[in-house]
Amino acid sequence: MSHDTETARTNPSISPVYNDKIVRQFTIMTVVWGVVGMLVGVWIAAELLWPALNFDIPWLTFSRLRPLHTNAVIFAFGGSGLFAASYYVVQRTSHVRLFSDGLAAFTFWGWQLVIVLAAITLPMGITQGKEYAELEWPIDLLIAIVWVCYGIVFFGTLARRKMKHIFVANWFFASYIITIAVLHIVNNIAIPVSLTKSYIIYSGTVDAMVQWWYGHNAVGFFLTAGFLGMMYYFVPKQAERPIYSYRLSIVHFWALISVYMWAGPHHLQYTSLPDWAQSLGVVFSLILLAPSWGGMINGMMTLSGAWHKLRTDPVLKFMVVSLSFYGMSTFEGPMMSIKTVNALSHYTDWTIGHVHSGALGWVAFITIGTMYSLLPKVFNKPGMWSTRLIDWHFWIATIGVVLYITSMWIAGVMQGLMWRATNTDGSLTYTFVESLKFTYPYYAVRLLGGVLYLTGMLIMVYNVIRTLRTPEPRAANEAVAVQAAAA
Ligand code: HEM
Ligand code: HEM
Repeated sequence: MSHDTETARTNPSISPVYNDKIVRQFTIMTVVWGVVGMLVGVWIAAELLWPALNFDIPWLTFSRLRPLHTNAVIFAFGGSGLFAASYYVVQRTSHVRLFSDGLAAFTFWGWQLVIVLAAITLPMGITQGKEYAELEWPIDLLIAIVWVCYGIVFFGTLARRKMKHIFVANWFFASYIITIAVLHIVNNIAIPVSLTKSYIIYSGTVDAMVQWWYGHNAVGFFLTAGFLGMMYYFVPKQAERPIYSYRLSIVHFWALISVYMWAGPHHLQYTSLPDWAQSLGVVFSLILLAPSWGGMINGMMTLSGAWHKLRTDPVLKFMVVSLSFYGMSTFEGPMMSIKTVNALSHYTDWTIGHVHSGALGWVAFITIGTMYSLLPKVFNKPGMWSTRLIDWHFWIATIGVVLYITSMWIAGVMQGLMWRATNTDGSLTYTFVESLKFTYPYYAVRLLGGVLYLTGMLIMVYNVIRTLRTPEPRAANEAVAVQAAAA
């Protein structure tokens, strides 16, 4: 008897209709890769403070571990979370099982293989040298195949749905799946010269433009649209309230996806990219504030009438705070895209602060909240083992993010000001090394923030292990009694 059928027999609230095995697998890997990716993040943060930590071993140098960190947190941790959430949501909201169990299993093992290959090749220095698209062509091909299968499973399931309506979360997941396929394929068209080396077909400014069209939309569709899909299903579920405005969610969707595509050039201010293209990037970045905040407000207002739940439900706290960070980073981003502001912020740690207010505050918090909500459901447990530990996780991680981003903001603004300061004779007031010396204490604070954030993740691991060990699933008669009481 399969596990699904088994649990359905013992607990009538779990249905054998759905494929929850794949959700369970991706949920566990989200937690595992979260710890690994953040551990590497903490390590490189420590290397910036104590460069000797690379022990003169090429594999451990900052330059090789940094892309390992970004790939691990974005594609392994964030990606696994998105696979888990989208597979769960599309089944529950379409009232059908996944289109193909075999293909879904292939996406799981294929994606894990991509991650393992990345973890081997990046420290070896095998890279295309394109940020967030470092992996060499054989791995790129594997990604493309896995992604197309993901699309077939997701859209195949939607096509077989039992109701006419497509719930808004699925719109966000659909746009993220389609866009990432297009971005990945176009940005990685390359001519291979060996198994581990290829040359991208674009050159010069065109290469830069394609790269940042990809880079920015990876932020827009991977790190934002996908997680908005999570938000639109799990925030109302956790708050036990309908979405504040379903109409606003549809406007949010169309406005967001049509504006994001044009904002990429804000990564290339003051470069050889034509000036009009840079200005176009600024204008679209400023417009982007409106749909982003529309979505943030929609999520927040969903809690109307349920704010009291924040006192007792730390999972909801993760979700609400993630929305505030989403609002904050999507206010900061448009400001940073303004040319005069970018002249100060670019190349400084301000950018790193912005990235992590989005990454740690928004992306990771909504993922963590969703995993806490999802885990007991797909493993057929009454709830997480300890709510108190979730609360500890929440507070430790929140202090961690605040330390990380405030230290980077101060360091970044000071670096920008020191680099541009000139004496009356036109010479530079500060040498580069002076600005670096100034930054050290802030790197120490960032490291502390990172260690706290990682500690929170380790608490999560402990809680997850204890939850999985909880003796038996809720007994059938108990579940019936709970349902009867709720009715
Ligand atoms: C314990 C948590 C984390 C720590 C300590 C950490 C630390 C770091 C460090 C030290 C860098 C390099 C900064 C530099 O080059 O000066 C970095 C870069 C980056 N991290 Fe993290 N990180 C953490 C979590 C995350 C998460 C969860 C995400 C995404 C979901 C993320 C996404 C990124 C990105 C995208 C960059 C590249 C930024 C850029 O190029 O501007 N990080 N991180
Ligand atoms: C309205 C929304 C947003 C706008 C207009 C925006 C704008 C910007 C700007 C102007 C930069 C600096 C570019 C530079 O000087 O090189 C930047 C960097 C970045 N932003 Fe945002 N941002 C937004 C939201 C977000 C969110 C929600 C995240 C999520 C996690 C994010 C992740 C990043 C990353 C990873 C970088 C660093 C890219 C790199 O250089 O490696 N952004 N963003």
